[in-house]
Amino acid sequence: ASKVGTDILKKGGNAVDASVAVQFVLSVVLPIAGNIGGGGFLVYRSADGQYDALDYREKAPGKATEMMYLDKEGNPITDLSLFGQLAAGVPGTVDGMVKAHEKYGKLSWEELIQPAIDLAEKGFPITAAQAEEFTYSYKNFEKWNAEGTAFTEKKEWKKGDVLIQKELAETLKLIQKNGRKGFYEGKTADLIVNEMKSGNGIISLEDLKNYESIWRTPVTGNYKDLKIISMPPPSSGGIALISLLHSVENYPLKKWGFQKDSTVQVMVEAERRVYADRAEYLGDPDFYKVPQNELIQKENSISRMINFSFNHATPSSEISASQFNPKEKEETTHYSIVDKDGNAVSVTTTLNGGFGSFVVVKGAGFILNNEMDDFSVKPGSPNMYGLVGGKANAIQPHKRMLSSMTPTILEKNGKLFMVVGTPGGSTIITSVFQTILNVVEFDMNMQEAVAAPRFHHQWLPDEVFIDKTAISDSDRNILTEKGYKLTERSPWGRVDGILMKDDGSMEGGADPRGDDFVSGF
Ligand code: DON
Repeated sequence: ASKVGTDILKKGGNAVDASVAVQFVLSVVLPIAGNIGGGGFLVYRSADGQYDALDYREKAPGKATEMMYLDKEGNPITDLSLFGQLAAGVPGTVDGMVKAHEKYGKLSWEELIQPAIDLAEKGFPITAAQAEEFTYSYKNFEKWNAEGTAFTEKKEWKKGDVLIQKELAETLKLIQKNGRKGFYEGKTADLIVNEMKSGNGIISLEDLKNYESIWRTPVTGNYKDLKIISMPPPSSGGIALISLLHSVENYPLKKWGFQKDSTVQVMVEAERRVYADRAEYLGDPDFYKVPQNELIQKENSISRMINFSFNHATPSSEISASQFNPKEKEETTHYSIVDKDGNAVSVTTTLNGGFGSFVVVKGAGFILNNEMDDFSVKPGSPNMYGLVGGKANAIQPHKRMLSSMTPTILEKNGKLFMVVGTPGGSTIITSVFQTILNVVEFDMNMQEAVAAPRFHHQWLPDEVFIDKTAISDSDRNILTEKGYKLTERSPWGRVDGILMKDDGSMEGGADPRGDDFVSGF
């Protein structure tokens, strides 16, 4: 995908052209997360400093209801929002790419889709990590797709095996020829609705025909001399990232140092408070009045930190959401692109869980998302990332489910400085937060910043998750004594970023935790 993006740039395409081509190629070469059956967010900054944000998040089908994943007693039915046809939201990716291309693209639509068609038709050798994922997921694919799929061609996959996806190639050709109608109407739409009928799905032809992605105003804020440009609701990412940076701005992190006890303490306490606000106040702004201005006001973040003491951890049970003036009522993927003129694109796109709902649309060859699990299916009941929510993120027909995706662009002195983002569910926000601080406070280059070990707190559960190599033993001991529960977890996130250097060159960082790749010319 990185190579295709670079090829498009070499041909004279701009960052948006490359981004469209990369999105479609990822739907072929990264079936676990790259998609046409899911959605995403794109943040754009032009070379002359204009910015824009495209919301191509999935939507709840028209027949969705607040109770749809609950049993008669009102308890969540295990896995109903995670697997199978009912877990899918109405996909947004194809409309998103059409709108991005219409507004900013230079090259023809046809040539941007062609690389994806070629890779689907002729196949490509899979990586070692993919071989493991396909082999591991065989049973789930088999369970949800009675007639077999490209991913169940083999039971045991090896590195270098070639994955051919003929049906997907045909679907991509329809999209190439007919644009959004190639997906939301005609043969592909019929195949999606047939797939729904073969199980418990509820996406209708009308839902598909009426799906529209939306241009939104990016959320912006400042941290020292940086300007942060990120994704507004229905993602919580931009607001939460800005609130986190505001919360830590007045503490001498640089002096304390990377992952020293005080640094970790301040960052974790900020995370605890910001995620409590996320649970209360964030949801689709078309359905719920999100107090965006209040949340990104520096004074709010600063006052939230007043009850924090360096002597001990604040128990999450003592933290609730901010009080505002009552008049205000783990698979995804990220790519960062900068073209030769300095136009920048930051995209995070997802099926939600790895391989989404595991439903491969019969006859159309693409995987449907399980994004409905990002709604709060019941107030206070955790989703697959342990996130809780309430009214703001309750299910309603046609509503967009809340996201943590944080595609972000930073400016320094009015010039492009960094393009960054990552997958990782609830951990996305804190991974982007740490990567930015790694560069601006802890003097790492882009590659070191994305590779550095990470930690994460999200209010509930009241635990600090840590990479195996994060935080030295002595700092771990100090934190544990102060009441922090540290829990080691297998590595998360695949942060990919681009840093602009003073001499005008660019430095790429690709997360070694994944098959991620830096490419340029
Ligand atoms: O939108 C969200 O926040 C989630 N659906 C993202 C899922 C994700 O990052 C999974 N990746 N590991």
